[in-house]
Amino acid sequence: MGRAFVYVVLGGGVAAGYAALEFARRGGYSRGELCIISEEVAPYERPALSKGYLLPEDPSRLPKFHTCVGANDELLTTKWYKEQGIELVLGTRVISADVRRKTLLTATGETISYKTLIIATGARALKLEEFGISGSDAANICYLRNLEDADKLVNAMSSCSGGNAVVIGGGYIGMECAAALVTNKIKVTMVFPEKHCMGRLFTEKIAEYYESYYTSKGVTFTKGTVLTSFEKDSTGKVTSVVLRDGNHLPADMVVVGIGIRANTSLFEGQLLMEKGGIKVNGQMQTSDSSVYAVGDVAAFPIKLFDGDIRRLEHVDSARRTARHAVAAILEPSKTRDVDYLPFFYSRVFTLSWQFYGDNVGEVIHYGDFTSNSPMFGAYWVSKGQITGAFLEGGNRDDYEALSVVVRRKTKVSDMPELERQGLAFAIQE
Ligand code: FDA
Ligand code: NAD
Repeated sequence: MGRAFVYVVLGGGVAAGYAALEFARRGGYSRGELCIISEEVAPYERPALSKGYLLPEDPSRLPKFHTCVGANDELLTTKWYKEQGIELVLGTRVISADVRRKTLLTATGETISYKTLIIATGARALKLEEFGISGSDAANICYLRNLEDADKLVNAMSSCSGGNAVVIGGGYIGMECAAALVTNKIKVTMVFPEKHCMGRLFTEKIAEYYESYYTSKGVTFTKGTVLTSFEKDSTGKVTSVVLRDGNHLPADMVVVGIGIRANTSLFEGQLLMEKGGIKVNGQMQTSDSSVYAVGDVAAFPIKLFDGDIRRLEHVDSARRTARHAVAAILEPSKTRDVDYLPFFYSRVFTLSWQFYGDNVGEVIHYGDFTSNSPMFGAYWVSKGQITGAFLEGGNRDDYEALSVVVRRKTKVSDMPELERQGLAFAIQE
C-alpha cells in the first residue's frame, strides 16, 4: 500500500499550517501533489491551549483557532485544504522514515513517498518518568501539549473548583497554567527548582514582580526544590505531592510543565543534529538537500547572532521558518537566507510582555515595577550594543521600537543614560 506526493509536510502543527498557507499563496504545486501528515487534527494555533482554551467563560474551541488566525490571517479549515487541493492525512502517526529512499511509513502500514519533505514534527512534553518519578499517568495529573491534554486539563479543573492544584515547573506552561487555574477558582502552589520563575528569560527583578503579582492572586511559591513522589488514593488519584524536603502538598490535581524535547527520533542517524534539533541552513534545508525542517524541531542559523545555531520553541519562529522553507523550496534563487529576529511573548491575567533578541550581557531595568497595571522593561547590552529587550505592558508602537533597536544592535555608550531614558531610548531611535 502506498501513495506518492511531490511535497510532504510531516507534522500538522503551527508550522505545517503556515507552510500550507505559503504553498497556497505561491501556488507552486498542483492538486494532489502536496500532503500534510499528522497524528492530530488540522493545524491549529497551539498557544490557544494555555490561554483561551482554559477560560471558565466562553472558552475558545476549534474551528475558531485553526491556523493562521494567530497571525491575523486566513482561518484554514479542512474545507480550505480541500479547496486548495492539499491532502490532509490526519490521525496518522509516521513510525519510520527512510531519507535515502524518500519514504515515510505510517502506523497503519502505508508507505508515503515524497520528492521534497518538510519536517514539522515539533516537540513533546517531557514526562516526570524521565526524571525517575513514576505515576504521572494518573487521571488528575495533566501535561499540556495537544488538544487531548487540554481536554484532560479542562475536565480536571471542572471537577476541582475551590480545590488545590500543584503546578510543577516555573516556565511558560507553569506560569500560564497557574494563571488559568486561579481564574478557574482553584488554589495553586507552584513548585520548581530554580530561585525564581521563568529562569530561562526573566531577570530576578522581573521574576520578583511576577511572583508578587501571582502571590496577590493567591498563588503560593515553593522554590528551590523538586517533587520526589505522589501519594494516591485507592482509585489511583493523586492526593498529595511529596517534595524532596519531605513536605507534602495536598493536591486535587497536578499540572506538569517541565520542558520539552524536539521530535527528532525518526531522523536520528540520517540527518545532522544540533542543539537537540535537526540542523538546517539559512534555507531551512537539512543535511539532505530534499529534506527541510521548520518550527520547534529545527536548529537554524540566526544571522543577528553571527550565524549562531539556535532551536527556538516559540510560535513566531514556527510560523516564519515554515513560510521561509516553502519560499526556499519553490523559489530557491529568489530566497535569501533566513534573517530571523527571535521574538517571545506571553499573556497571563491582565499582564502581557514581549521580548526580542537574546538575553545575554549586562541588564538595565527601567519603568514602574510597582503598579498592578505596570509598564516596565529591560535591555540587555553586550559589547556596547543592545542584544535583547523586554517590555511589560507596552503598546504596538513600543514593541515595534524595541524590535528595531535590537535588530539594529543599537550602540549604547552611556548605561546610566539608557536606564534614565528607558523606553524613550528605543522610541527616539
Ligand atoms: P507543533 O508541536 O505545533 O506541531 C507538531 C505536530 O507534528 C503535532 O501536531 C504532532 O502531533 C505532529 N507529529 C509529531 N510527530 C509526528 C509523527 N511521527 N507522525 C505524525 N505527526 C507527528 N509559543 C509562543 O511563542 N507564544 C505562546 O504563547 C505559546 N503558547 C504555547 C502554549 C502551549 C500550551 C504550548 C504547548 C506551546 C506554546 N507555545 C507558545 C509554543 C508554540 O506553540 C510552539 O513553538 C509551536 O507550536 C511549534 O510549532 P511546530 O509546528 O514546530 O510544532
Ligand atoms: P520551560 O522550559 O519553559 O520550563 C520548564 C520548567 O520546568 C522550568 O522552570 C524548570 O526549571 C522546571 N523543571 C525542570 N525539571 C523539573 C523538575 N524535575 N521538577 C520541577 N520543575 C522542573 O518549559 P514548559 O514550561 O514546559 O513549556 C514547554 C514548551 O511550551 C516550551 O517550548 C515553551 O516555549 C512552550 N510554551 C511557550 C509559551 C509562550 O511562549 N508564551 C507558552 C506555553 C508554552
